[in-house]
Amino acid sequence: MCGIIGYAGHRPAVPLVVEGLRRLEYRGYDSAGTAFVQGGEMRVVRAAGKLAALEEKLASCASATATSAIGHTRWATHGVPAERNAHPHCSNDRRIAIVHNGIIENYQELKADLLAKGYTFSSETDTEVLVNLISEGMKTQGSLLEAFAWALRQAHGAYAVCLKSVDEPDTLYAARMAAPLILGVGTGENYVASDIPAFLPYTRDVVFLEDGEVVMLTASAWKVLALEDLSPLEKPVRRIQWDMQAAQKGGFRHFMLKEIFEQPRVITDCLAGRVDGDTVVLRELESLPVPRRLHIVACGTSYHAGLWGRHLLEHWARVPVSVEIASEFRYRDALLLDAGDAVLVISQSGETADTLAALRIAREHGVPVIGLCNVVGSSIAREADAVIYTQAGPEISVASTKAMCSQMVMLALMSLAWARLRPAGEAGISPEDSAGIIDALRALPGMLDAALPDMHARAREISRAYADARNFFYLGRGHCFPLALEGALKLKELSYIHAEGYASGEMKHGPIALVDPSFPTFALALDDALFPKVKSNIVEVQARQGRIIALTNPGLDIAADDVWVVPALPAPLSAFMALPALQLFSYEVADYLGKDVDQPRNLAKSVTVE
Ligand code: F6R
Repeated sequence: MCGIIGYAGHRPAVPLVVEGLRRLEYRGYDSAGTAFVQGGEMRVVRAAGKLAALEEKLASCASATATSAIGHTRWATHGVPAERNAHPHCSNDRRIAIVHNGIIENYQELKADLLAKGYTFSSETDTEVLVNLISEGMKTQGSLLEAFAWALRQAHGAYAVCLKSVDEPDTLYAARMAAPLILGVGTGENYVASDIPAFLPYTRDVVFLEDGEVVMLTASAWKVLALEDLSPLEKPVRRIQWDMQAAQKGGFRHFMLKEIFEQPRVITDCLAGRVDGDTVVLRELESLPVPRRLHIVACGTSYHAGLWGRHLLEHWARVPVSVEIASEFRYRDALLLDAGDAVLVISQSGETADTLAALRIAREHGVPVIGLCNVVGSSIAREADAVIYTQAGPEISVASTKAMCSQMVMLALMSLAWARLRPAGEAGISPEDSAGIIDALRALPGMLDAALPDMHARAREISRAYADARNFFYLGRGHCFPLALEGALKLKELSYIHAEGYASGEMKHGPIALVDPSFPTFALALDDALFPKVKSNIVEVQARQGRIIALTNPGLDIAADDVWVVPALPAPLSAFMALPALQLFSYEVADYLGKDVDQPRNLAKSVTVE
């Protein structure tokens, strides 16, 4: 899981590539590098650590006047995070350099063949194998392009790869198979990158490349070819509307904070064009019948959104729902054969390898797949039978925040849309109550916008008293249980404090044994039918000297070390107030502890490998 960029144009390429890499750093950041041709030689500069380390090294290469270069920001998949494993990698004769995102699964076999032919390797990477395989192809294939395609046809696995050579210094070749790659079409310059923000300041005109496609680009031309036989392909150029500001911090200390505060806007955007008076309009679903059973498959935060959505889908639309982690689903012999089943894959990035694999399994079973995705043109969005875009805008911070909010809005809308299609009397929500929920959703952005500053201040205040904890419980019931899981995930990934989310009713089945004065609990005690049950679970924890933060609504009678009151909304919409509180608490703890909030260690934004 890495970010790659290639540039062919008229500007100094190296600074431009480094700048593009900075906007791709969310894809991984344990090392970075660039390659360009200078004085008829391949120059490769690489550094372990963040981009600043690469920039430092480049400062001593002031003579780099190349107008074409490739670059890479890496998240280790093969080999430890170290300079020798950083990209670009060169062929033994140093005439070719490549950057690569993905995994070549059969690289050991390919490497054994190359070793037998006398090739040597200085890294542990599959990428160095691939570049030497291309070099080997040069001996038998007619051209560099043919050698590139010949080598890729032998590589099994996932890749987005970009190649630069000494012999054709003004041309770049790139290809994709199961990893994102986008061509940016400029004036007198062209780009290829893992994601649009890499080149967005320079062009909004893009070509989405598909699996099995090769692109050849120079400053003035580009063409897309089929990997199989190098036949030319017609590809439409699309204009992207995102502006760069959306991908910048906008005055906030971190992207994460900015993205938490964007949630009111996200809700508004999710509702735009999707609610008309009392009715939900989800045109994307019109071609599919209401499923008899729905299987939701996702990872991480998106999985938690799915767990939350199940409550609404079952309660309102009366659709039986299972929710499963994609990495489990894909290797289980899931029973998807019933006519009437549908699979809903939820993914912010639309590139998560396990979720994409689950989608493909469902399609192999002939089961319709609905994708709930944020990234337009992503693999999941393209392969699903129907796609609902979540409209969260680019999410830069590695920890997902606004994307979950947008997924929850869409799940609520889906539930209402399907409830309406139920025969009279079979829906779990009346048309009047449905209209009330739509009204509450419309009012939500304003309420949340007004509540966020106080919520942030309270999060900061409380976080200071708990930042020394080494362990945390998060408890909730009903629709708040998925929020407890999400709260715990946010705390552990941002602050590296061990945190467990539990259904509060489970505590006395074992976990309560852990409670002592140093093991605090964050309890979701919102105003809903299960409040009295949650309250007694809190009392049980207090009886073991456990400290409690209780997130609650006005007027509820609850005693806790820290009572945190957020505005009330009818359940389950109260989740839209609880979610930012949980996010802000984790944000504040992590920031107070001096952690790298936007780029937590060992994580990457888009998990495109297993
Ligand atoms: C946590 C987080 C991850 C992602 C997960 C799935 O903050 O961001 O748990 O939710 O990797 O990613 P997507 O939604 O892109 O499939």
